[in-house]
Amino acid sequence: MKVVNSILELIGKTPMLKLNKLTKDIEAEVLVKLEYLNPTGSLKDRIALKMIEYAERDESLKPGYTIVESSTGNTGISLSFVGNMKGYKVVIYETIPGKMDKERVKIMESYGAEVHLTTLKMISELRDKSVMGAEVEIPGREICLKLEKRDPNVWWARQFSNPNNVAAHNETGREILAQTDGKVDAFVAAIGTGGTLMGVAEFLKEKLPDIRIVGVRPKGSKRPIIPGKPYPKTEISGGIISDMLERNLVDEIVEVSDEDAINMTHRLWREEGVFAGISSGANVLVAVKEAEMLGEGKRIVTVLPDSGDRYLTEEHFVT
Ligand SMILES: Cc1ncc(COP(=O)(O)O)c(C=O)c1O
Repeated sequence: MKVVNSILELIGKTPMLKLNKLTKDIEAEVLVKLEYLNPTGSLKDRIALKMIEYAERDESLKPGYTIVESSTGNTGISLSFVGNMKGYKVVIYETIPGKMDKERVKIMESYGAEVHLTTLKMISELRDKSVMGAEVEIPGREICLKLEKRDPNVWWARQFSNPNNVAAHNETGREILAQTDGKVDAFVAAIGTGGTLMGVAEFLKEKLPDIRIVGVRPKGSKRPIIPGKPYPKTEISGGIISDMLERNLVDEIVEVSDEDAINMTHRLWREEGVFAGISSGANVLVAVKEAEMLGEGKRIVTVLPDSGDRYLTEEHFVT
């Protein structure tokens, strides 16, 4: 075990676990990458570090600037953590009033960030104006875009379209390939921005052209993602997801209900001792179905994006 100089060095290089109890009647293997063991408890630490460091390098982010983002939780927490460690002011626009539990806001504030809760009135006003108004982060993104246009000392991380979100997860793909000695038959991941799925798919498909890439979405998502069909892209939406579909990186999308995701998450806690969040339950549910379908000798890999601590007040399948 070695000693590191900065907590930022502990981002990534997460361990991988083979599930046993949840797969006891299944012949294929399911391996889960424990992304909730990143320093703030989610895989968004990877992208926060990569997006900030790259912006520093190309000088779109300079000392004295303010980092802004619209986030339902994990990215806001990770940007608060990395941004604060690097001496920036961080302002997060949280976008589901009443849905975001107080713990997430407190965590961001504890790292030193300023958090603005978007009011329901603002959301309805902005939604009326917004072309793509269905997604919860859109109103916050509109605010970030305006701030960025108005103030040259504001840097908007733009996780939904920032190529360094994808690049951070190329590294996740590289870790998966090394941890499995190059044997992966399918990769499954929930889609929020699409960064995880696209970053891993981009890396693994090049090494393993026959790999199946399966995306997971909350059931009833307002704008469906359909492999082979285009997905709209604007200044405030679409980015990575549109590129991923355009490049045919996804083989299938499976929708999972809140209830099924929550049930599988509880099984992960009790049967495997893995205290991960609700999207982890959704990912595992789909990975187990893939395992049943692919059968003996096959190996399915998925990620456990965040920690169960985030869902102590509210249990929802949030990506
Ligand atoms: C809990 C959780 N699971 C899954 C995801 C999906 O990750 P990505 O944005 O890389 O698609 C996110 C973020 O959006 C998340 O916060």
